[in-house]
Amino acid sequence: MRVLSGIQPSGKLHLGNYFGMMKLALELQDKQAETFLFIANYHAMTSVQDAVALRDGTYDVALDFLACGLDPRKTVFYRQSDVPKVHELAWLLSVVTPMGLLERCHSYKDKIARGMPPNHGLFAYPVLMASDILAVQSDVVPVGQDQKQHVEVTRDLAIKFNNRFGETFKIPEPLIKENVAVVPGIDGQKMSKSYNNSIELFLPQSKLRKVCMRIVTDSKTVADKKDPDKCNVFALYKLFTSKEQCAQMADRYRNGGIGYGEVKKELAELIWQYFSPARARRDKLLSDPAEVERILREGAAKARRVIDNTLKKARIAVGLE
Ligand code: TRP
Repeated sequence: MRVLSGIQPSGKLHLGNYFGMMKLALELQDKQAETFLFIANYHAMTSVQDAVALRDGTYDVALDFLACGLDPRKTVFYRQSDVPKVHELAWLLSVVTPMGLLERCHSYKDKIARGMPPNHGLFAYPVLMASDILAVQSDVVPVGQDQKQHVEVTRDLAIKFNNRFGETFKIPEPLIKENVAVVPGIDGQKMSKSYNNSIELFLPQSKLRKVCMRIVTDSKTVADKKDPDKCNVFALYKLFTSKEQCAQMADRYRNGGIGYGEVKKELAELIWQYFSPARARRDKLLSDPAEVERILREGAAKARRVIDNTLKKARIAVGLE
């Protein structure tokens, strides 16, 4: 089974990224799967149009993944732009892509609604994403809920292409971890960099505490009985605790006697502990940028071997060769 996922380097990674996709991808590398993970820096250009920010952001994501346990001997880890052939494949796919399919993409519509300029890159985003996925012939694509539609578009395009030009691509399946598909941000909306409501993975401890204290709750007092299932703090707390610990906390909510402030403090501590081995690895890597670069280049060389094969097949299928 081949697994591929990608992540945009468009800001510091946060808990939503971690529980939505990273954790899943990292678990898969230890199962019997051939895992591919790349940093979607071409995609990030739809929002990051500054060379320094793009370069630094790309490096940051590489660090975060390696720190969180990505093992480059198990996972092919690369920068999208080190495999520019995905653009050639995106073109081959674009000729079987109905405009209407892209016009229906929620992600595109949301971005426009939030005021992003509707440029061609933003519109064609799902075609490049389909190319990323189909180029490595992946069976499974672990993604957050928000990317499910893009994987469906990918399936559509693969089927259309195969029908028109002959069997060329595997049809991939999205893999979404249902119970943690949506991680709430500190305001209760889905955690997202663009909503400015995220909790970053590697904040200094004082900042982490501060951001946890800002999580929005209702105005019940310490003594009041509370509903854990309606509380953003509890929703995040759940991600870091065992079932038993979680049930205990839920009881304390329902019985009254615990204040949101106390739970927030506990949450900040849990997050800090959870990421502390990763933080240590990250600090170590931070002093060795050449090693990070070496890992990415080696990953790209491996990815290119697979992607070159797909391109060869696709070019023959359409009659370019
Ligand atoms: N669109 C994805 C996101 O924003 C990133 C991405 C690009 C991706 N290409 C991909 C994810 C291919 C999975 C597979 O999260």
